Amino acid sequence: MDKQWTSTAQENARSMPATASVPAELRIGGVRIAPATVLAPMAGVTDTVFRRFIKNASTYSTSTNLGAPRLDSETWQSSGESFGDIDRETSNETSGCGLIMTEFTSADGLSRMRETKRKRYLTYYEDEHPISAQLFGSNPDTLAESAIICEDAGFDLVDLNLGCPAKRVVACNGGSGLLRDLPRIQSIFERVRASVKIPFTVKFRLGWNDSNIVCVELAKMAQDCGLNAVALHARTREQGYAGEARWEWIAAVKDAVKIPVIGNGDIRTPEDAAAMVEATRCDAVMIGRAAPANPWIFRQIAQYTATKRATGVGHYARPTDLDRYRMIRDYFDRLMQEVAEHPEILGPADDDLSKRLKRNHESAQRDAIGRMKQFASWFTHGVPGGATLRREIFEAKRGAQVMEKVEAFFTQRNSTSQAETPLEHDEELEAAPAAWG
Ligand SMILES: Cc1cc2nc3c(=O)[nH]c(=O)nc-3n(C[C@H](O)[C@H](O)[C@H](O)COP(=O)(O)O)c2cc1C
Repeated sequence: MDKQWTSTAQENARSMPATASVPAELRIGGVRIAPATVLAPMAGVTDTVFRRFIKNASTYSTSTNLGAPRLDSETWQSSGESFGDIDRETSNETSGCGLIMTEFTSADGLSRMRETKRKRYLTYYEDEHPISAQLFGSNPDTLAESAIICEDAGFDLVDLNLGCPAKRVVACNGGSGLLRDLPRIQSIFERVRASVKIPFTVKFRLGWNDSNIVCVELAKMAQDCGLNAVALHARTREQGYAGEARWEWIAAVKDAVKIPVIGNGDIRTPEDAAAMVEATRCDAVMIGRAAPANPWIFRQIAQYTATKRATGVGHYARPTDLDRYRMIRDYFDRLMQEVAEHPEILGPADDDLSKRLKRNHESAQRDAIGRMKQFASWFTHGVPGGATLRREIFEAKRGAQVMEKVEAFFTQRNSTSQAETPLEHDEELEAAPAAWG
């Protein structure tokens, strides 16, 4: 199946029917997801800071407006003050991201934790709705207990992870390890379904390996057990992140069930998202690795969809490096503020949760600086001179130093009037985070 990056965007746009676009909405149980786009759960990435940052991405833009809201560019300064208006509330329609999900959380850890601690661990903010909590584990009782905890904490949906390929998780039969044990999956589906009223979904891979492809059977089982939607990352566990996602299996799952099917794997551009919908008829698209490299992707999909519906040809705005600067600044500000208040938000997602809650501010600050470096690296890929900046950032020891380097870099670019130059598409794509697990 052809994807956008196997041919040029123009070729692809030509070969794609004018009708191919991401649906405006879908319903999962009683929850309306509009537009039909989902930020994939990513351990070590999709904490509350990142999730809110994605939802606000549409507000950091100086580039040509093609239908989504924009901010004025007059605030381009290097003085260090924050941009006051980026914190305003953004609806899912304007952000372009219909649903966000937590990184996966250990059901065993959650069910063992004291109530006050659980609350701290499951931190999210009101403007994150609708939000889904993802759980992993293999014990039907603890999973059901944890699903109730998520429901009580106000999550709109709860999701079961059957895709994680990490050895630590698979060794306890969690994540993709369970794909070899369908009867156990059925017990989990039944126990969790009977325990919560909120929509219950599952995210899985094709199967353990090519001789054990179970996705169609699993999707039918999910439907029979009363689950409200399925999300398929179209690779086997054995594939990890190698090779291409096999979208034909998303189409096969869509043919087999009536509940909504969310397609996932290798969407890097709005054209890819439309192509996946066209090829598979999936009800929504889920985007993982492209989001940290290009947080504007959801907004771009919305712009692409709107212009394509209106004119038959899809267009979308490309971020300038001024947009990128504003984005980095805001992300860092949010990160430092959140870490000061909730040091437990960072740290390995599959770690013992109580260990994570004992983390002190010093270790949280260290992690925050690590994340700043990681994000600065994603965001500056493709920006001319970005390699030098990345080297400097990696030598920095304190958060303030990282920020100083970023400011100096962008100020210098601003003074040489390159700040409005949009990045080339391919350069953005190089920046995607490394495969997980
Ligand atoms: C860094 C990283 C962490 C991930 N963590 C999770 C996770 O916690 N739960 C999950 O279901 N999938 C996880 N995934 C898989 C993604 O949700 C997604 O299925 C995968 O990246 C394929 O989509 P993409 O091609 O759009 O990236 C992770 C992927 C990455 C790269």
